[in-house]
Amino acid sequence: MAIRKIVEVGDPILRKKSRPVEKFDERLWTLLDDMRETMYLANGVGLAAVQVGVLRRVVVLDCSEDKTGYLELINPEITGTEGEQCETEGCLSLPGQNGVTKRPAEVKVKAQDRNGNWCVFKGTGLKARCFCHEIDHLDGILFTDRLVKPGIEELNETAEKNG
Ligand code: NI
Repeated sequence: MAIRKIVEVGDPILRKKSRPVEKFDERLWTLLDDMRETMYLANGVGLAAVQVGVLRRVVVLDCSEDKTGYLELINPEITGTEGEQCETEGCLSLPGQNGVTKRPAEVKVKAQDRNGNWCVFKGTGLKARCFCHEIDHLDGILFTDRLVKPGIEELNETAEKNG
């Protein structure tokens, strides 16, 4: 496994649309393992492949307190949402920035696992926000595009909510 460099705002790749994964091979598994390592090292709750410079529809996330909620989402799609929440959000690609976004309170996602099997996930609270934030990355959308209120909190309060 290797730590990959996280792309930061200003790099045009963050605005590009990622392509679907077609081959569930060792190259993908290495990418996933590296993304997992990179996300945990950066204290993130989620990471999209584009954030390490790879334009493929791949997301890793872990919204748990104790690193037991690790998930891999390949070619994820939101299949249903309910309610709304307004919370402070940050992003590993926008260091030092945060702000309040409006997201669904509950999100259903279907995605493939690293072997290509389709799975269904449901998230509320932070996990729902994280699903939306990371899937946005795959379409070149940043949380700053969805602000309802610019950030006022100190970064260290939200450092672990970054994805
Ligand atoms: Ni992000």
